[in-house]
Amino acid sequence: MDIKAIKTGADSQNILIVPVFAKTDKLTGRLSEIVEHGEFEARLGETYSDIANGQKLVWVGLGEKNKLTPELAKMAGGKTWSSLGQIGDRSVGLVIDKAIKSSLALSLIEGLLLRNYADLRYKTGEESAKTHNRLLTSLNIIGEVDAAFKKELQELIKIVEATHYARDLVMTPSADQRPEDLANEAAKLAHTYNNVTFEALSKKELQEQGLNLLLAVNRGSAYEPRLIVLQLNHDKKDKPIVLVGKGITFDSGGYNIKPSDSFLEVMHTDMAGAATVLATIKALAELGCKKKVIGIIPATENLVSGDAYKPADIIRSYAGLTVEIKNTDAEGRLILADALSYAIKNFDPNYVVDLATLTGACIVALGFRYAGLFSNNSDLQKKIRTASIDSGEKVWALPLDDTFKDQMKSPVADLANLGNAGRFAGASTGAAFLAHFVGETPWAHIDIAGPSFQSKETESWNPPTYATGFGVELLVKLIQQN
Ligand code: BES
Ligand code: MG
Ligand code: ZN
Repeated sequence: MDIKAIKTGADSQNILIVPVFAKTDKLTGRLSEIVEHGEFEARLGETYSDIANGQKLVWVGLGEKNKLTPELAKMAGGKTWSSLGQIGDRSVGLVIDKAIKSSLALSLIEGLLLRNYADLRYKTGEESAKTHNRLLTSLNIIGEVDAAFKKELQELIKIVEATHYARDLVMTPSADQRPEDLANEAAKLAHTYNNVTFEALSKKELQEQGLNLLLAVNRGSAYEPRLIVLQLNHDKKDKPIVLVGKGITFDSGGYNIKPSDSFLEVMHTDMAGAATVLATIKALAELGCKKKVIGIIPATENLVSGDAYKPADIIRSYAGLTVEIKNTDAEGRLILADALSYAIKNFDPNYVVDLATLTGACIVALGFRYAGLFSNNSDLQKKIRTASIDSGEKVWALPLDDTFKDQMKSPVADLANLGNAGRFAGASTGAAFLAHFVGETPWAHIDIAGPSFQSKETESWNPPTYATGFGVELLVKLIQQN
């Protein structure tokens, strides 16, 4: 993608995008005409396509000036993309005038670029060409922008590219993406960036070290598990920030097998947390981040076989706590428990954030646009909420307390992987299980089961029926700010 900021040249673009605030008094020319005729009111996200002198014009409404937020500008950017239609090799310009604050202009550009994505890896023929023709390959930003704007633009392009990379990983079918392939993906990042190091524990090493929860979930699979460890600025002496991502490359539910109407057909996306962690490390490396950041990914399939783990099995975790398996479909918390305790024991983190498509209950509670946020540390929780507002990736705090933690105790083992209140407050009990493995280390758990994949209800900057890459920008902002 070739993106340039230029001072003039609005007349020479094949397609020209012009953002407009509602209720501004200084309307002139064609714009005052369409507004007067009531064809365009500049409502937020409203678009109006026009032709003037052989040039396609797209007017984009920004709503009232004092109501525009980063998230809303991002939304308008996504809608703008959808109104562009076929682009082919036509040049596209976007007018940024002084009326719009540069941070909001950048959010608009971000929404446009995030939406400018299609996964064509498995498409052939005419339809593929058509979709391809809708993608922008270059964008001219036209206006008086300063050096700070240009710098932030370059940063945002890197975040968008990393988000697209996360989407690709999430979309890859499980037949083409085993745990070993995820590890190879991580190895590639270490190859590309010389301040990134890679390591992956094999099944044998996991056995030697006793990551038995990860191994238990893996038993039904024909493919070996991995614990992937990526380190950015490995040489630094500081306490690291640790990111942990759930890497279930397919979740059948195991012997508590999922029925057909329970998202089984998208359970190859159960590694969205892992994808976000990989993409965040990539973005941070691209941005020249100087902090020490470690990404940890427990990766396995959750399947059935003659050797698969079963309800009532009791497993000794890496941390030493024993866990009664009450439901083999509550596998995410098992692999995360081992990964979190491995991170805390071996890396002494400053703080830890895990991302996981952990519970259907979180979707029931919050829907598809909000991730659930849980933490044992109010300061970290606040920082994540700030980063969330800045990125437009929504999180909402849900409760986590000792009562939920107590519900995870088992009569026959230290813990059970299902709360004794069954499915009630399922997102909170899932988080409470994890809380038993993090102790006092500042930790937050972000349940992304809803926003990692969009089917119907979609943010305009996310393509419908696609992975979203949720969380990359949120984590980048969090780490940049803290
Ligand atoms: N991967 C699922 C969670 C999920 C469900 C993600 C739907 C995206 C869409 C997870 O492993 C799971 O199966 N969770 C169970 C937990 C339950 C058994 C306590 C669930 O949500 O039903
Ligand atoms: Mg499951
Ligand atoms: Zn799962």
